Amino acid sequence: AAIGKGNYRHFMEKELHEHPAVIGDTLRQYVDPASRAVARPQLPFDPATLPRLWLSGCGSAFLVGQTARYWFESLARLPTDCDVASELRYRDPPLTEGGAAMFVSQSGETADNLAAMKLLRAGGQSLVSVVNVPESSMARESDATLMTVAGPEISVASTKAFTAQLSVMACLAINFARARGAIDAAEEARLTHALLEVPEHAARILDATAEIEAVAADILDARDVLFLARGSLFPIAMEGALKLKEISYIHAEGYAAGEMKHGPIALIDSKVPVIALCPSGPLFEKTASNLQEAAARGGRIIAFTDEDGAVALRRFASRVVVLPKVDPFVAPILHTIPVQMLAYYVAVLKGTDVDQPRNLAKAVTVE
Ligand code: AGP
Repeated sequence: AAIGKGNYRHFMEKELHEHPAVIGDTLRQYVDPASRAVARPQLPFDPATLPRLWLSGCGSAFLVGQTARYWFESLARLPTDCDVASELRYRDPPLTEGGAAMFVSQSGETADNLAAMKLLRAGGQSLVSVVNVPESSMARESDATLMTVAGPEISVASTKAFTAQLSVMACLAINFARARGAIDAAEEARLTHALLEVPEHAARILDATAEIEAVAADILDARDVLFLARGSLFPIAMEGALKLKEISYIHAEGYAAGEMKHGPIALIDSKVPVIALCPSGPLFEKTASNLQEAAARGGRIIAFTDEDGAVALRRFASRVVVLPKVDPFVAPILHTIPVQMLAYYVAVLKGTDVDQPRNLAKAVTVE
């Protein structure tokens, strides 16, 4: 049967509202809520002894890989590389014997992924795909397939598939960390508990439509927008920038906050909104001080944070959006939602063709 928009104006709006259900459905595939343990995933390698992992994908799916890299390295102590598939396929990197690669994709049909998979297979790497379509070409090319349970995604701009992919990767990070002896059962239970609470928090963020619409009105006339963050939130800053480019046609860059003084700070004036993902946590002070530097140069700071971060940021930010306070491990999943909503509301205010942005295709099946 054809999929409808229901009472929503666009598929993207409908799919944004599916975040809580999709994250919950995906987590239920990988986590046992009773024991709070991640079920052992079917993989062609043993995570305990894996020497090195490649992560790849294109566009938003690549940014899921980038986020997972932070998790796999810091939590699981697993050496991880990550690159866009269009580069990886021509890089000819030295490959570690017994290594593996994981490719992330909503469609499972992306041409650059398939080409990079063939290269890595020829180099002796085992292949895993994280896809939303079980009978896709990438699934066929892989030794194992891990499914996201996002359901069909119609909007060209990916939303719910992205948080479903992050949810799978977060479960894997916990599982790998356990297998490698980097965390104990109590820490596994604590992290899975934090994950299982994400759907509820996501629903609360989706209820804060008016606040995100106000931010959209703030940046509507900007020609350029900077998204800043550190650590595992840096790829989410890039996701926010990518979405804004895709559907609202505003030039945006996602930057590591600490890199600002190495270049982009030259752009800062009152016309370039600086959107910061800055929840409380180990890197809060560092990011906040970068933002203060931007504010001191006339920058208009719009910060997404939690109640613990809000007090300090309100001193210099022109707008502070308070999100639920969560464990830093799950913060990337949660921060995805407001930046995707922001791109959506800017596009609606601009009157662009939200679900079918110009020049873009849902699945890029040619090089
Ligand atoms: C996301 O909003 C984009 N439309 C795009 O970057 C997309 O993520 C990319 O083309 C990868 O597609 P895939 O997940 O189907 O491989």
